[in-house]
Amino acid sequence: MPAPLDFSYDALAGRVVFGAGSRRGVGGELDRLGASRALLIAGRAESAPVAELIGALGSRVVGRFDDIAQHVPVDRAEQARRQARDLDADCTITVGGGSATGFGKAIALTERLPQIAIPTTYAGSEMTPIWGLTTGARKLTGNDPAVQPRVVIYDPELTLTLPPRVAGPSGMNALAHAVEALYAPGANPVISLLALEAARVLCGALPRVVAAPADLEARTEAFYGTYLAACALAVSGTALHHKTCHVLGGLFNLDHGGMNAVVLPHALAYNAPAISGVYGRLGAVLGGDPAEVVFDLARTIDAPASLAALGMPEEGIDRAVAAVVDEASANIRRPDADSIRELLLDAYHGRRPRADRRGG
Ligand SMILES: NC(=O)c1ccc[n+]([C@@H]2O[C@H](COP(=O)([O-])OP(=O)(O)OC[C@H]3O[C@@H](n4cnc5c(N)ncnc54)[C@H](O)[C@@H]3O)[C@@H](O)[C@H]2O)c1
Repeated sequence: MPAPLDFSYDALAGRVVFGAGSRRGVGGELDRLGASRALLIAGRAESAPVAELIGALGSRVVGRFDDIAQHVPVDRAEQARRQARDLDADCTITVGGGSATGFGKAIALTERLPQIAIPTTYAGSEMTPIWGLTTGARKLTGNDPAVQPRVVIYDPELTLTLPPRVAGPSGMNALAHAVEALYAPGANPVISLLALEAARVLCGALPRVVAAPADLEARTEAFYGTYLAACALAVSGTALHHKTCHVLGGLFNLDHGGMNAVVLPHALAYNAPAISGVYGRLGAVLGGDPAEVVFDLARTIDAPASLAALGMPEEGIDRAVAAVVDEASANIRRPDADSIRELLLDAYHGRRPRADRRGG
């Protein structure tokens, strides 16, 4: 069946600077924004790029927030916002993975400060208007154009230090963006082109990144795939896979990249009966049954093999089922409690996504 050609598409604005060494242009990007009092947001581990940045920008960096945690706990977001206000910052510069980017977004959400994002993982948050905050055991997400970074600097050299155990799962997160962009609620034919190319590039680059972490060409390709996938996510939104990861992240504080590697093959297999056209196109790009290829890729790059390996308690499956069914109610194949329990059990045990589980 040909892809339907009736769609609406709000292309997202934002400036992207891509290339090895591009981080050195951050001063010029500040000038373009008309900003001179940047709050630098980066975790304590990101000391090398931070020292370089502070050396280059001098007094234009007025402070640093480093109390980064995954899933942006709301109390820490409040601290970061207070620091931005106290310092009279006029922009944020975030250096790091999706967690650091998420803190810049949390500040933008309430303080309306423009953000220059310098990502160092493949999470892709930097291209999206999606924010996330965790309060108690619940992750809240929302969509606000004000939180989309105004400038994104993709410098693949900054990813050279990303160890394979982080790079692989983080890349699976990027791949999940590409995959779900093909059938999430905002999918359109233009975005599908980006998503399919992203999936192709990522599946080719990630095994090379993990096998040879110093391979700058592979790192560059993986980052390019990340960028394309994140553009697709930003427009299409998310479906069952990401809703499941958000529920599990909120309930059990599991590593985000690891969850992506474990859950994606099962979410894809579950959706397969409802997305046969897209499933076929993705299979043509990936060279096989998509759920199987994605499962095998996760093994090749040595990503966590199961939710159990990520530390989820088995009794947590029952706690998660109702929340996933609720959060993913708009998924293209409507979830029900029995199917989601089965999906979570498969993911918990790290089983292969079997064809006989893909019944409609
Ligand atoms: N809003 C969105 O659109 C969106 C999209 C994707 C992910 N996210 C969010 O992003 C978060 C996950 O992001 P993540 O997977 O990048 O994890 P992360 O930002 O927590 O980083 C993981 C680890 O890698 C380290 N690290 C980062 N870059 C490094 C580098 N170049 N070298 C060495 N170590 C490095 C960090 O210090 C950290 O310990 C989650 O909270 C997720 O919900 C949001």
